[in-house]
Amino acid sequence: MDFDNLLLERDGAVAVITVNRPQVLNALNFSTIDDLRRAALALKQDAGVRAIVITGAGEKSFAAGADINEIAVQSPAHTKELALRGQHVFDLFENLGKPVIAAINGYALGGGCELALACTLRVAADTARIGQPEINLGIIPGYGGTQRLARLVGKGVALELLLTGKQITAAEALQIGLVNRVVPAARLLSDAKALAAELAGKAPIAVQYIIEAVNRGLEVSFDTGQFLEATLFGLVASTDDMREGTKAFLEKRKPDFRGR
Ligand code: COA
Repeated sequence: MDFDNLLLERDGAVAVITVNRPQVLNALNFSTIDDLRRAALALKQDAGVRAIVITGAGEKSFAAGADINEIAVQSPAHTKELALRGQHVFDLFENLGKPVIAAINGYALGGGCELALACTLRVAADTARIGQPEINLGIIPGYGGTQRLARLVGKGVALELLLTGKQITAAEALQIGLVNRVVPAARLLSDAKALAAELAGKAPIAVQYIIEAVNRGLEVSFDTGQFLEATLFGLVASTDDMREGTKAFLEKRKPDFRGR
């Protein structure tokens, strides 16, 4: 597949997406959002891909937000449509059914932070800086940030970040649960890929159902969420991978999961 603004590489069952506009710190212009949409759909369909890493080109930035040159000149109605479109694309990553790991290699600001929030897990370089600075431009996040940040780190901490627009360090992000791991910058991509490879070795259908149960479960009552869990548990019990996983345990060997 050809993209104007992304690089897409494969390493076994792991795909790596690199947002590739380093001259503007990987700002997410509308064309990049569309590239991300096409990449998400392609990777979802590709059964050979079991985990994905998203990172930014260069050492300075994961993504420094929406492209301010484009935001500055939109009409209100069009801006709303663009926000809905961006939200849809980030939803695709959140619900891809495969683990998506943000490897945050520098600034993850605005839309960059929102892209990381839509990922399944976040690994940050110790040099990363994360925040939602939209308030300083007189705007608000438009790609899910107000919703996902509050769900991930809690309402009070989210409101502080959203209202101050401050950048926090990787260590602070780890402390509030915004990222899962912090690693030395030099090791970021290899560590994120190793984590992706580890998850790629798990039973794909069980991985998908865990992501679905957590994502959908957070949107419904506890009771309904538990019912969804039980239903997915019933479904996963019908898979070859369930038989292989339990058999391998009893035979004291490593399971070979096929996604069936
Ligand atoms: N949209 C468009 N261009 C951007 C951008 C964005 N979100 N973020 C950075 N750039 C561009 C800069 O305009 C600059 O372009 P230039 O070289 O043509 O002047 C280039 O990327 C490098 O950025 P610069 O600001 O010079 O780097 P810095 O190290 O001094 O500062 C940041 C880095 C991330 C703190 C700063 O670029 C910044 O605040 N960016 C905007 C973050 C933001 O508000 N995001 C939310 C957008 S809704």
